[in-house]
Amino acid sequence: MRSYVNLVLVSLLFFIFVDLVKPLANPFLRGLVARSTITATVAVISVLNPFLKDAEGEVARRIPKSLSNAVRDTPEAWSTFNALTLALTVPALAITKPKIVQQFLDNSPAAQATQSLDQPYGPAALQKLDVYHHPLPHNNLRPVVLFVHGGAWSHGSKVIFRMVGKQFREEGFVGVNMNYRRYPNSASVIDQAADVGKALIWTRDNIKRFGGDPANIILVGHSSGAHISALHLLLSENQPASPPPSAFVSLCAPFDITNHYEWETSRGVENISALKPANSFQNRTRAFAESSPTLIAAAMTQEELKTRMPPVVHLYHAIDDTTVPSMSTSDFYTELESINTDIKMHLSETGGHGGILVDFMLGTDTSENSNPTTTIQDIIKDVIHIS
Ligand SMILES: *[C@@H]1O[C@H](CO)[C@@H](O)[C@H](O)[C@H]1NC(C)=O
Ligand SMILES: *[C@@H]1O[C@H](CO)[C@@H](O)[C@H](O)[C@H]1NC(C)=O
Repeated sequence: MRSYVNLVLVSLLFFIFVDLVKPLANPFLRGLVARSTITATVAVISVLNPFLKDAEGEVARRIPKSLSNAVRDTPEAWSTFNALTLALTVPALAITKPKIVQQFLDNSPAAQATQSLDQPYGPAALQKLDVYHHPLPHNNLRPVVLFVHGGAWSHGSKVIFRMVGKQFREEGFVGVNMNYRRYPNSASVIDQAADVGKALIWTRDNIKRFGGDPANIILVGHSSGAHISALHLLLSENQPASPPPSAFVSLCAPFDITNHYEWETSRGVENISALKPANSFQNRTRAFAESSPTLIAAAMTQEELKTRMPPVVHLYHAIDDTTVPSMSTSDFYTELESINTDIKMHLSETGGHGGILVDFMLGTDTSENSNPTTTIQDIIKDVIHIS
């Protein structure tokens, strides 16, 4: 325990030091400081995680605001964060779940025959998606899952969630994992939502080549990925050419940005989080309410809502999620439940913010799974059954 405490103290000294030196005006130093800050932060959080209920919040609230904002506004800090996520999980999994790591890293000709990576759906570097398909050609078109990863509008990637696409393929779907423009490279959630629309268009126009059914695309989003997906659906006047998915599944999503900002503030993560600039624009011309699917839905007539939302909507949340409280999902559900479509809410006792995805990515044959009450397979079976 003493060494953990020392590590925390050393890191805090680091934060105070760089804050006093104030090298943040120089872009090169700013990048360096932002990367070092996120690295130190991740290190301290992973060490403290087993001992604290909200290690993320405990650490973040001790970082000076200037440093938090430097991290938030530096793209390299978030690519470092993505790299650290993989660097910390893959070696640990190599010991406990070698088969999964093998599948994750598999680049053999056989693997390449069932995946088509980095398909561009727009001109930006991040407007690319990966397709996980069955050996081609095949006769019966399969339903498609388009997966939109989370990461607080600023981080996450299709590579980190590669196993989601691969597991959907194992479940009989064509799995599509998309990247999208993230803060700070793209200023707003509106750009991110538009990317979901563009990826839907690409999928409709191209997925037949990969054995997918363009008329049966299930949109699945996690966390901020589900938020921008819902935003895309509700603001679909921005994307008239985008095909409506046949179903929408959200996992642990923030649907009310004002409430979520208050929650982030209570945790002390509000200044490192991209929530504020991504959802209000840097110039604050946009109110949080305009980026909040719950409030947008509340302001719509039932008829309007019915035309915007797909006929099948399943909203999942774990009630022990401390990153996004489950009230977000139950409030959104309240707005949707009376429209005459198949709307269902799945509340799980356990699983936290990511458990349901982690369980899915690690495969179904493991007995030590942390999230026994609901699985993605349960939800998807329900969705397919209804649609
Ligand atoms: C975040 O910034 C605000 C000022 O904009 C400050 O009042 C607040 O204390 C900061 N929060 C943390 C956790 O540092
Ligand atoms: C505010 O920012 C958004 C997004 O960056 C931009 O579209 C809008 O034109 C800006 N508004 C003003 C008044 O600068």
